Amino acid sequence: MNNKADGKTVGTVPDSAPAKISITLKVNGVEKRMEVAPWTTLLDLLRERLNLTGTKKGCDHGQCGACTVLVDGKRINSCLTLAIMKDGAEVVTIEGLAGRSALHPLQQAFIEHDAFQCGYCTPGQICSAVGLMNEGRAKTADDIRELMSGNICRCGAYPNILAAIREVTRVGAGQAQGG
Ligand code: FES
Ligand code: FES
Repeated sequence: MNNKADGKTVGTVPDSAPAKISITLKVNGVEKRMEVAPWTTLLDLLRERLNLTGTKKGCDHGQCGACTVLVDGKRINSCLTLAIMKDGAEVVTIEGLAGRSALHPLQQAFIEHDAFQCGYCTPGQICSAVGLMNEGRAKTADDIRELMSGNICRCGAYPNILAAIREVTRVGAGQAQGG
């Protein structure tokens, strides 16, 4: 459709968005080439197309952190991210964190510290904690609390989540325990 003012064309707006766009993502080390609708979120792509259901949909509005994954090493809310925005990126989900013969240290620490109850928030908590470690900004237990505040745990497992993260990051040793 052409918009006209004073008889001149001032802009061109497509009648419709393209139905599908081709993108490539490296997901948990495997390259995936896919045709996706432009409005598909990364969360829906992971869960519905790639069957990676470890990443959870909680609020679907960027409020709970259940959908946290790592994109090029940075933690993001996949529910707020369109898949086409990450064309060419490397995505790691909870399914891709463990090594061949051992869990990721944070996964192991979550088990040892009993850092979950229902487990719904746990993949997001762990991916977020990996992102936190990559950022290298947490120097105290309070820093961890603040920098993990985007990840909600409705079961209230915060003290044990904090203990697990502290063990792996070796942050805040000697400070008071608690969530
Ligand atoms: Fe993405 Fe809640 S599902 S932040
Ligand atoms: Fe249930 Fe966190 S363990 S929401």
